Amino acid sequence: MSEHTLKASITGMREGYSEYAVSQHNAIANGLERAVSQLVETFEFSSASDPYINLVDLGSADGVNSFPVIESFSRALNKKRMPLNLMVSHVDLPSADFNGLSHNIYQNECSYRQTLSTENMGIHSVIVPGSFYDSFLPENSADIIFSTTALHYASRRASILSKHVHPLCATGNEEKSAWEELSASDLNTALNHIHSSLKSGGKFWAVVPAHNRDSSTGKINNYWYREVLDVMSEQLLELVDKGIVSEESWNNFVLPVHQRHLYQWQKWFADNESMFQVDFLYAEEQENPYLQRFTNIHQDLNLFADDYLLSVRAWSEQIIIQLLPDTEQRNTFFEGLRNQFVQTPDRFENDTFSVYIGATRL
Ligand SMILES: C[S@@+](CC[C@H](N)C(=O)[O-])C[C@H]1O[C@@H](n2cnc3c(N)ncnc32)[C@H](O)[C@@H]1O
Repeated sequence: MSEHTLKASITGMREGYSEYAVSQHNAIANGLERAVSQLVETFEFSSASDPYINLVDLGSADGVNSFPVIESFSRALNKKRMPLNLMVSHVDLPSADFNGLSHNIYQNECSYRQTLSTENMGIHSVIVPGSFYDSFLPENSADIIFSTTALHYASRRASILSKHVHPLCATGNEEKSAWEELSASDLNTALNHIHSSLKSGGKFWAVVPAHNRDSSTGKINNYWYREVLDVMSEQLLELVDKGIVSEESWNNFVLPVHQRHLYQWQKWFADNESMFQVDFLYAEEQENPYLQRFTNIHQDLNLFADDYLLSVRAWSEQIIIQLLPDTEQRNTFFEGLRNQFVQTPDRFENDTFSVYIGATRL
């Protein structure tokens, strides 16, 4: 079977994703102040007669984690121009849960539509089914594009992963190089589309999960949910051995995200310096919020596991469902993960590591 006929496990998040997406929320909060002061406060309006500012949320999921970003960016813009006429465009894959997104934009009390309602602003919201691997908005139409914990999603499967669900753990040169090539070409495609959607002088802010491989030992020191992915692979391979999951389904399955190293981002911007001026580009580690909560508050492994499982399930269920469509089997699978959290909690204390990019479109 040709690689390209295989199904790619690329879907949107499930409903209610953000309620438990605590690590993602922390990574965003950690870089927000700098993004506001170095990008938004230095943003120059292209013309006084521009009817509105188009602020784009790329990979918005159910929207909730973006609300503080939209609020902070809008307040900073409003200080420079009053009244501000704002259009917020929420872009996500056509398979995403747009009902949940729409509900949150209009009903959630944390929505910018609520928190900014007393400000001197006109606010319009637009939902755009699209992909950053395609033309997601007209050329020169966006003033500011931000993307939080989304640009690591791959465009497709590069190859079968024989022993793992995750490309960074590819084994053998063929698997590895297929994924490395896709990672470089995906980065190039996405940044080209972001560039063409932005107006000249427009700003781009991204927070992207990353890894921190030690170049001398080759060891992956740090990347988002490393141990969780290992345990998922081990468990799913057991289900293949038992005949519960077919070999074909396993071969069709992958968690399609590239956790890139900071130098891969640096290289792209260095190679394309006529497209963007880099305002900042750095990587940062954040303490695992679950472990903190466990040690400071819970003091109970069962509570830690319950808490952590909700988070892992929030981002992985839409992907796992493709392998285990039966709800009971899926519950058993997640129960197995939970048991691992209780039995070997030390494996799951990884901190998170993100790359932060701030750039101006030239
Ligand atoms: C982990 S969620 C992040 C959501 C939110 N921005 C946050 O920071 O919590 C990743 C989101 O990116 C979306 N996504 C993945 N690939 C995409 C693509 N090619 N184009 C647009 N959105 C994509 C997914 O559907 C999902 O909603």
